[in-house]
Amino acid sequence: MLRWGWGRIAARFAGWIAIGLGLLACGMPAIAAPADAARGRALYETRCGGCHERSVHARGARSAKSFAQVRAWVAHWDRQTGSLWRDDEIDAVTRYLNDRYYRFPCPDEVCGTDRG
Ligand code: HEC
Repeated sequence: MLRWGWGRIAARFAGWIAIGLGLLACGMPAIAAPADAARGRALYETRCGGCHERSVHARGARSAKSFAQVRAWVAHWDRQTGSLWRDDEIDAVTRYLNDRYYRFPCPDEVCGTDRG
């Protein structure tokens, strides 16, 4: 009793293989590893979103006036809330906030040189 034709089985496998390759690609480290804004977003939302959603970053009188100052704030709040982040995590969160709200020029050592 063969209810499944080979074509169907092959189609099923193709789907799994595609998913597998996708996961593999995601797991690969980025070349030259510039700060990862998506990771920064996740870190920020986990620890910092409770106190201020966008308002504090988008307000007219915001305090940060440069990429370095945004980073200093991120480092400040990380210390205030238990110093849980490594430098590259602080970079990632800074990049996320900068990409999303501030739009200051981002130094190559944080954003890489391939931003176009
Ligand atoms: C206890 C509440 C609280 C928590 C938790 C908190 N913040 Fe803040 N944050 C504030 C307040 C209030 C301000 C405004 C301070 C001011 O302007 O003097 C601020 C300001 C900032 C600014 C500067 C905004 C500007 O004006 O440009 C940044 C960047 C920032 N926070 C990042 C973070 C990050 C990253 C975290 C998580 C590690 C975090 N904050 C956690 C309350 C909080």
